[in-house]
Amino acid sequence: MERLIAIRPLAADDLDAVLQIQAQCPEIVAWSRASYAPVVRGEYPGWVAAADSRVLGFVVSRKTAEEAEILNLAVLPEARRQGIGSRLLVQVLEEARQAGARRVWLEVRASNAAAIRFYERHGFRLRGLRRDYYSNPREDALLYCCELVQSPQGK
Ligand SMILES: CC(C)(COP(=O)(O)OP(=O)(O)OC[C@H]1O[C@@H](n2cnc3c(N)ncnc32)[C@H](O)[C@@H]1OP(=O)(O)O)[C@@H](O)C(=O)NCCC(=O)NCCS
Repeated sequence: MERLIAIRPLAADDLDAVLQIQAQCPEIVAWSRASYAPVVRGEYPGWVAAADSRVLGFVVSRKTAEEAEILNLAVLPEARRQGIGSRLLVQVLEEARQAGARRVWLEVRASNAAAIRFYERHGFRLRGLRRDYYSNPREDALLYCCELVQSPQGK
C-alpha cells in the first residue's frame, strides 16, 4: 500500500529523528543539535518528510540576498528512490524562488555519485570545486548551482 508522505516544517520535536538520519548518512556533514536552533526558530528554512509521523528525510537551507544555499539534505537509506528527496528539494527550490532567489548553491562530496545524479536530474550544474573541503575522510567538494526562473510578477 502506498504511504502518504507529508512535507512539513522542521520542528524541535523532529530533532531526535533528524540526528538519527544524519548518523546513517556519512555523505553529509552532521550538525550538532544546537546548530538546528535557527532552523527550529524559523530563521533558516527547514523541512521534514514524514509518513505516519515517522520522519524519513529532511532538508535545511539558507537564503541570502538573491541567492540561496542547500545546507543539508538526507533521506533514510531504506526510504530512498521513492521520490522523497525530490519532494524536499522541490519544496526548498520553490520557497527560495518565491522569496526572490535567482539561484541556489550547494556543495557535495566529489565521490557522492548518487547525490550528484539526483541534483543534476533537478537542474543543478557543476560550477566549481573546493579542494579538500571535507574531512573524515578528506575530500574535494563539487560546487553546484541551479538557476531559478522568476515569473514576471515575481510570484
Ligand atoms: C541524495 C538523496 C537525498 C536522494 O534522495 P531520494 O529520496 O533517494 O531521491 P529520489 O527518490 O527523489 O530520486 C530522484 C532521482 O534522483 C536520481 N537518483 C537518486 N538516487 C540515485 C542513486 N542512488 N543513483 C542514481 N541516481 C539516483 C534518480 O534520477 C532518481 O530518479 P529515479 O528513482 O526515478 O531514477 C539520498 O540518496 C540521500 O539521502 N543520500 C545521502 C545523503 C546525501 O548524499 N545528501 C546530499 C548531500 S549534498
